[in-house]
Amino acid sequence: MYLNYADSGRMRVTQLPQDRAKFKVPSLRNVALTAPYMHDGSFTSLQQVIDHYNSGGQPHVNKSTLVHPLNLSTQEKTDLLNFLNTLSDDSFVRNNLFN
Ligand code: HEM
Repeated sequence: MYLNYADSGRMRVTQLPQDRAKFKVPSLRNVALTAPYMHDGSFTSLQQVIDHYNSGGQPHVNKSTLVHPLNLSTQEKTDLLNFLNTLSDDSFVRNNLFN
């Protein structure tokens, strides 16, 4: 996965090869409630997303140098998951005005 993208990303708009496989950075607000993840919904859980980032992701010519193996411990991955879960706004989600 992620060696080839069915969706060429920003390149569809700009036609520039350097924009291939580039996608908008999404808001993480309420991210625990909005699975599946990434532009193609290829991850079904935040745990999978964290494991993906922790591995440094797959090679791609346009991959950011900011994305590299993180070597997170099990505890650090749990901490990160717990942090992402704090971004849920229950008062908004449970608001009957939006049902
Ligand atoms: C451990 C660090 C990181 C965590 C926990 C994290 C978390 C996430 C999550 C949960 C998503 C999915 C959001 C969704 O689908 O609604 C996401 C997507 C994304 N993140 Fe990160 N992120 C991290 C690092 C980074 C870095 C360093 C960059 C940029 C250099 C980045 C850029 C993006 C982009 C562009 C997407 C959208 C990808 C797509 O649509 O396929 N993230 N991130």
